[in-house]
Formats: sequence, structure tokens, C-alpha cells
Amino acid sequence: MEYHNPVLLKECMEGLKINPEGIYVDVTFGGGGHSREIIKHLTTGKLFAFDQDDDAVKNKIDDPRFTLIKQNFRYLKNFLKMYNAFPVDGILADLGVSSHQFDEADRGFSTRFDGNLDMRMDQNGKQTAANVLNEYSEEDLKRIFKLYGEVDNAGKLAYTIVHVRKEKTIETIAGLKIAIDKCVRRGKENQYYAKVFQALRIEVNKELDVLQELLVQSLEVLKEGGRLVVISYHSLEDRLVKNFTRTGKFEGELEKDFFGNPLSPFSNITRKPIMPTEQEVQSNNRARSAKLRIAEKK
Ligand SMILES: C[S@@+](CC[C@H](N)C(=O)[O-])C[C@H]1O[C@@H](n2cnc3c(N)ncnc32)[C@H](O)[C@@H]1O
Repeated sequence: MEYHNPVLLKECMEGLKINPEGIYVDVTFGGGGHSREIIKHLTTGKLFAFDQDDDAVKNKIDDPRFTLIKQNFRYLKNFLKMYNAFPVDGILADLGVSSHQFDEADRGFSTRFDGNLDMRMDQNGKQTAANVLNEYSEEDLKRIFKLYGEVDNAGKLAYTIVHVRKEKTIETIAGLKIAIDKCVRRGKENQYYAKVFQALRIEVNKELDVLQELLVQSLEVLKEGGRLVVISYHSLEDRLVKNFTRTGKFEGELEKDFFGNPLSPFSNITRKPIMPTEQEVQSNNRARSAKLRIAEKK
């Protein structure tokens, strides 16, 4: 099976506005679909890629202009400094999990299979979804289901989990489904599980925290005129990207100078996010919730 089919490929390349001699970073290498396309546009330029997953590293591109860094992108700035690749002309982030991670039952990301409740993108990470389910307080479980999964009965769900795990720890996907059966509305099982899994995945991988760290560091590592290109797949991510590229902050109003000029550190190239065409969604289901935002550092 194909490792991953890159989403909004042409739009991302246009967004990066590649300088053939420039330095680029693909912070979510995955199957390397976007990276391979970036390299095609380079002459003497360089491409650095990050991925925290051991499996992604196997897709490494054999090219002297390419360097793969097996790390969380929250360490972007440090590693770029270490490689003397500072400042950069463009950063691409294609957030979330790859099709490969999603399709491998034992990674625990998909509700389609049974398997261990793992959900770590980084196989060396300390916390799995099973740890979250069996060790978090009821209050914390409620918070993550509500905040990250937008689960409407998050309180009942957290209560049920805490109750069930007193008898038996929750270790597998099938075990979780049985444990929470009475919280799920009939006929809406798949939507419900998807929300619960989204919440757990975000918590296990601290996805919103690392995205914030990435966005803040992007400002420090991009050249003036450098491009930030981000594809997100759910509204929590997109909101962070939207707010930060508009205002340079995650919350609150856009600050203005004495003359009323906006003080945002970016110019927005996309006022509204770019979404895939119907044709792309038909040929690549993973594209269906993608939103692409492009910003240029001032
Ligand atoms: C949607 S896939 C990227 C697919 C890639 N653009 C392609 O064309 O094949 C996201 C990848 O980013 C990685 N990833 C997600 N968050 C990360 C993080 N904080 N640090 C490093 N890698 C991350 C995942 O392990 C996954 O392989």
C-alpha cells in the first residue's frame, strides 16, 4: 500500500514560491511526497526535513541537497542552527498523521481495527493513549474530550472510563469500544469514536502545544519574505494557524501601531484557506478536511 499521497501538492509549491537556491524545511516529512516535489524545484538550494516517526525515516531521499532530521518539529530552531541552515526561505507543515500511520493497525490511530491503544507518532514517546485512559483523572479526561474532541457528553464519557478501569484497565481499541458503549448514540458510532480518538491523539502527541511552538519559531527562523505554508486537518489546528498568521498571537485582537497600521509579523497570502478540489478529494480521501494557509514573513 502507498505510504502517503501528498495533499494540495501544487498549491503548496505555489505557496512556497521556491527560490531554486534557497533553504527549505518540510517539518512533516512522512512519505516524502511534498519533499520530493520541493527538491525538483531546487538547483543549489537545500531541503531539511523533520519527522518523529521511525517509519517515515525509511522514505529518506537519497540526494546530497537533502537532510532528514528524526526529531519533533518543536526543536526546529535548535536543529536548523546545528546544521547551519539559518535563516530559511520557506517552511512547509502538513500536520497530523500519515495514511501509513493510520492504516497500520498496531499504531492504534484508527477505529477500523482492533489493536493496542498506542497513538504515538514517535514510537519512543513516553505516553500512549492507554496511559491517558488509565491514569488521567476524571476531570482531565473530561477536559481533553471536550476541548480536543468536542465530545458533547464528555462528562459522562470521563465518568464511565474512570468507573470501568477500576475493574479492568483499558488496553485495546475493542476494549475501549466496549467500555464506552453506553455513551455512544446509536447509529452515530463512527462519528463518536472519531471524536474520542481525535482527542486522545491530540493529547498523546501534544499536537496543539507543538504546533504553537512551531509557529512561534517559524518567525525566528524565516527570512524576511520567507513563506510559511501549513495544511491543517481540524478546526483546533486551523484556528491556531489562522490567528497566528493574522496577528502574531494565538488569542486576542490584532495590535495596531500609533497610526493604526496592523502590527502583524506576517502578510497573509491566503485570506481564506485553500481547500482541495472535489476531484482531489475523490482520488484522495485524506484530503477531505484539509485547509491550507500561506503567509509571508514581513
Ligand atoms: C500528514 S503526514 C505528512 C505527509 C507528507 N507531507 C507526505 O507527502 O508524505 C504528517 C507526518 O508528520 C509527522 N509529524 C506530525 N507531527 C510531528 C511533529 N510534531 N514532529 C515531527 N513530525 C511530526 C508524522 O509522523 C507524519 O509522518
